Amino acid sequence: MDRRELLRLILMSSAAATVMPTKAFGNVLKYNSMSKLDFGPDFKWGVATASYQIEGAHSIDGKGASIWDTFTHEKGKIKNGHNGDVSCDFYHNYLEDIAILKSLNMKVFRFSASWSRVLPNGTGTVNQKGIDFYHKIIDACLENGIEPWMTIYHWDLPQALQDKGGWVNRDVIQWFSEYAELLTKNFGSKVKNWMVLNEPMSFTALGYLIGYHAPGKRGFKNFLPAVHHTAYCQAEGARIIRKNVPDAQIGTTFSCSHVEPWKDEKRDGKAMERWDVLLNRLFIEPALGMGYPVESLPVLKGIKKYVQKGDMEKLKFDFDFIGVQNYTREVIKKNGLIPFIKGMEVSPKDRDAKEITEMNWEVYPEGIYKIIKQFAAYKGVNKIYITENGAAFPDVVANNAVKDFQRVDYYQRYLEQVLRAKNEGINIAGYFSWTLLDNFEWSEGFKPRFGLVHVDFETQKRTIKESGLWFREFLK
Ligand code: BGC
Repeated sequence: MDRRELLRLILMSSAAATVMPTKAFGNVLKYNSMSKLDFGPDFKWGVATASYQIEGAHSIDGKGASIWDTFTHEKGKIKNGHNGDVSCDFYHNYLEDIAILKSLNMKVFRFSASWSRVLPNGTGTVNQKGIDFYHKIIDACLENGIEPWMTIYHWDLPQALQDKGGWVNRDVIQWFSEYAELLTKNFGSKVKNWMVLNEPMSFTALGYLIGYHAPGKRGFKNFLPAVHHTAYCQAEGARIIRKNVPDAQIGTTFSCSHVEPWKDEKRDGKAMERWDVLLNRLFIEPALGMGYPVESLPVLKGIKKYVQKGDMEKLKFDFDFIGVQNYTREVIKKNGLIPFIKGMEVSPKDRDAKEITEMNWEVYPEGIYKIIKQFAAYKGVNKIYITENGAAFPDVVANNAVKDFQRVDYYQRYLEQVLRAKNEGINIAGYFSWTLLDNFEWSEGFKPRFGLVHVDFETQKRTIKESGLWFREFLK
């Protein structure tokens, strides 16, 4: 019986049954013979989160507004009019959530700081209550035997800085440096693993090219300067960490997806190469000293206008690790009508993909193997952590349980592919699930649920899903 058939049977039986004991479920999914030990004794297991998506407490204890506070309150920007004002209220529930994390046998908590919580105006006056909050999270992790891994920036720019142009304004290099100095000086004695940025391509393209995310700006005149200043901050932030926390392990994270041509290898292949630049190459190559990949995507030539003397050298940094964040693959078809990139993604439904998540992303486990290989092939990438991977499915709570077998299956099959790459000799040192809690999924609002733990957003009740219980067993 193949896995999909097995999964279908499990789903059918779970719909009819009441609560299935975890043990029985563990037996049912025995087809996966992989063990935690296969990944080695030093492999790090954890979860990844982001400040705006979980914290809530958006305007208390001195926090300033971020671009997401503004954007979510504009009409029509977010599905169902949702916002992250409260979300999982991690600000008040962090002790319970870290205890849950510990109970899942996870040893890493990756989280980001909210810039406007510690610097309400982006620069200048420091909000001590914000600093105290992150100390409390870090201390709670350390007391529970969990390593705190801090991301400096996961998309929530202070609104005060956006009012001056945000990532489009070159002054952001100064603003960001001040913020990175603040975090590293305050937390560097306790936090030894740092990531500068979360997915620079996502926040520059979604926020400054197509306007689907905050701050809702569009066009290459916004995108190109935002890209250059972001690439600069990516390296500058790392230099600041190195200076203030000499014993830190320093990385930065990239969203990335294996790309394939739709049908015609040659025609669609060219379009695929252009997408590959945008999705996978745009930010890692300047960091590695290779410059911007302009040859494969000529519209990027316009970036020259924003590059000052000496900048290209400044984009380089010798990162200790690269964070790979992967969810799906992209199949690309030529389309001359799409400006500049002249190609488009073929939606999973239009190519009859068999398994599709709530995000309309295809479940394609081999994609993570292929993209790891692509990134590991760069000279200068010496160590990889999978800093995000996970899936949203329509979860239902029944009898105090969430039988998210599809997610269990997703994790097992993606992990098998991570292991495959590792066994081929690639230095993959850890894996962090996206994510601990159901949370605010940006412009999609609260509907897509990615958590290992279900959150009832009315009552703040947490219910560990079957996938969380699976990790608990697996990591025992
Ligand atoms: C982001 C997360 C996001 C997740 C799922 C990643 O691109 O870092 O913030 O929630 O994907 O969409």
